[in-house]
Amino acid sequence: MRQFTDQNGNTVRLVLNGEEPFSNDPKHVWVICKYRHQWLLTTHQKRGLEFPGGKVEYGETPLEAAHREVLEETGALIHSITWLGQYEVAAEEERIHKNIYFAVISTLQEKDCYYETNGPVCLDALPDTIREDSRFSFVMKDDVLTYCVDYLRKEQLLK
Ligand code: GTP
Repeated sequence: MRQFTDQNGNTVRLVLNGEEPFSNDPKHVWVICKYRHQWLLTTHQKRGLEFPGGKVEYGETPLEAAHREVLEETGALIHSITWLGQYEVAAEEERIHKNIYFAVISTLQEKDCYYETNGPVCLDALPDTIREDSRFSFVMKDDVLTYCVDYLRKEQLLK
């Protein structure tokens, strides 16, 4: 388990694949996506550039939510998806649990509506300066992303 403080001053705890999750019923998902040789992100209208994700809806499993959020926010269909881990944010009013997945995208479909985002953005690389870059959402600016990318590299999941 890893623990650190995020950009909002909240305590974040992270477990990666192979470790016990904090919750068996997480209400949030976050999906690190690769499309061909690029990272696939979305631009959230308030938060900025981030990997797609959001809340698990009533009657939905976290995995179903991951597929739905990726489709809604980027128009992408998932070829394969792996559970990477889970994190907990102890925010002011609540403690949230978020499942993290790694998805390989098969198809990117153009859509009329991308919900609360401006749709897909493909990047060749994730800049080293994300934390200082105002285009990026705060969810991309804590150690969760760093640990996940290191894990993907170590497991040779980034082809
Ligand atoms: P909406 O209800 O969708 O408008 O969002 P919200 O920000 O009010 O609520 P949400 O339940 O999504 O998150 C509650 C708080 O948890 C946020 O205000 C953040 O402080 C924190 N939080 C949510 N997601 C993340 C995340 O991915 N990373 C970090 N570090 N904090 C998060």
